[in-house]
Amino acid sequence: TIERTLSIIKPDAVAGNHIGEIYRRFETAGLEIIAARMMHLSQDQAESFYAVHRERPFFSALVNFMISGPVLVQVLEGDEAIRKNRDIMGATNPAEAAAGTIRHDLAETVDANAVHGSDAPETAREEIAFFFGDDELHSRR
Ligand code: CMP
Repeated sequence: TIERTLSIIKPDAVAGNHIGEIYRRFETAGLEIIAARMMHLSQDQAESFYAVHRERPFFSALVNFMISGPVLVQVLEGDEAIRKNRDIMGATNPAEAAAGTIRHDLAETVDANAVHGSDAPETAREEIAFFFGDDELHSRR
């Protein structure tokens, strides 16, 4: 099934100069970048994007980290894009991520974990719509 998923390259990976390395991994896996924008999130934007985590103990640390520098937001399209992107990213905690995954290879801590990816079709739809209008999705299919 062809899916779309929302990906964010987080401030640690942008600051670490890993954008090209991460895009190469997406493209090598057959994921197509059909939208992309670099932005420095405001506190309001970060809080509403992560609203589902509002009651979690790590919420304020997560928001503060996500507004600490620019991020690169993209939409990935391809066969089973949601699961494929999560496989490429590895476990949320880099210490538990399998060798060869982005988080194992490029990330340090559970907050500074290099990338975000949608976890299911419904959240992918919501997260894509949070950042992009339909006219900004340049599918080649
Ligand atoms: P992300 O996929 O962007 O979704 C929420 C983020 O919260 C997660 O990646 C982590 O960077 C961060 N986070 C910090 N602590 C935790 C935790 N204990 N469990 C899950 N996510 C956490």
